[in-house]
Amino acid sequence: GAAAAVGADQAIRLAGRPGPAGAADAAADASPAGDGELTGSGVVPFYGPHQAGIATLPQAHATLVALDLRDGINRDGLRRLMQLLTDDAARLTRGEPALADSEPELAHVPASLTVTFAFGPEFVRRASTAAVQAPAWLRPLPAFGIDRLEAAWSDGDLLLQVAADDPFTVAHAVRMLLKDTRSFATVRWTQPGFRRARGSEAPGTTMRNLFGQVDGTVNPAPPTLDFEQLVWIREGAFAGGTGMVVRRIRMDLDKWDRLDRSGREQSVGRTLANGAPLTGAEERDEPDFAAKNAAGFPVIAEFSHLRRARSENTSERFFRRAYNYDDAPSREQISNSGLLFIAFQADVDAQFVPIQQRLDELDLLNEWTTPIGSAVFVVPPGCAEGGYVGEGILG
Ligand code: HEM
Repeated sequence: GAAAAVGADQAIRLAGRPGPAGAADAAADASPAGDGELTGSGVVPFYGPHQAGIATLPQAHATLVALDLRDGINRDGLRRLMQLLTDDAARLTRGEPALADSEPELAHVPASLTVTFAFGPEFVRRASTAAVQAPAWLRPLPAFGIDRLEAAWSDGDLLLQVAADDPFTVAHAVRMLLKDTRSFATVRWTQPGFRRARGSEAPGTTMRNLFGQVDGTVNPAPPTLDFEQLVWIREGAFAGGTGMVVRRIRMDLDKWDRLDRSGREQSVGRTLANGAPLTGAEERDEPDFAAKNAAGFPVIAEFSHLRRARSENTSERFFRRAYNYDDAPSREQISNSGLLFIAFQADVDAQFVPIQQRLDELDLLNEWTTPIGSAVFVVPPGCAEGGYVGEGILG
């Protein structure tokens, strides 16, 4: 059944390594691919017009690593860096060891690994020649009233988004890639995130966040034309790439605990049971914003996240591919959790910023959520075998 949920761009090939004797039967039910294949043998093609890890069906685990370039790393250095990184990412995603893999045995479980590279403003500044224009939106987002940003979670020159259905695979890939970057860059921040384990729910089930909400229902889905048009940059050196916004949003679970179920549902305008709009029964039902309750108030409140996150201007949309985070609480806290909100769009200023502005002005969810990190990157297009990611500006 998995094949139906997986689009052309996101096809998961199988490495075809047979599982250990006896494991095949047990794996049959758990594997997204069925056919007795192990989840760990899933391979997502690395090469292509777009980088993997965007239209790819979200894997269970992702780690984002933002790097600061060292002083003096120029265009030639950046080219060498991206060639090294591309080569190792291509190997690791195939389930092969990196070139100088110190633990090669760990590379044999690709688990649908994807490595997505994205460039911050400083990377593009150092990489560009006069012929290449950085996208105008490639800069920190405007300041929002709700923001409580910490430098420790913000910005960065080069981003690695490493995702797989197995956290062990992610850990090994991150380590191998960081070894490549050592003489070029230092780690600025690292943010791991997770969704449900692959096989624990039917593939394509909308994720839930740590508030318990169904999160990601209204989202342009790959590989539709709508998705293609909203997400991929069409012109210039970054054509086939996209804009990436990363927001680390703390979710105050301890405060959320004090809100009753009806209040929780009104804050978004959807039910907790299945994510249906408060005017409907099923997750995918269209919300009825005109519907009123017995007291004459809108059923889906004006302050609800649902109403505020939706603009009448349908070009103000983007693709959300978020992960949950759950860090160790400190002292009096019970939880230190939130959302690694990740949005992809061709034009950050035209698509993302107006919605974030609306939410900044009014959104009841703001009572329990606080953006504490923020970064904007441009994701260059993918490359063909023999090429490297970033060749459009570094070549
Ligand atoms: C919808 C939660 C932050 C944009 C939703 C939904 C939930 C949700 C439960 C309804 C189901 C769905 O369609 O996905 C959250 C939480 C957040 C958060 C817990 C913070 C921790 C944001 C941010 C933005 C955003 C920062 C963009 C600036 C949207 C959009 C929708 C949505 C565009 C779909 C609206 C529509 O129906 O047209 N969010 N969200 N959300 N959210 Fe958020």
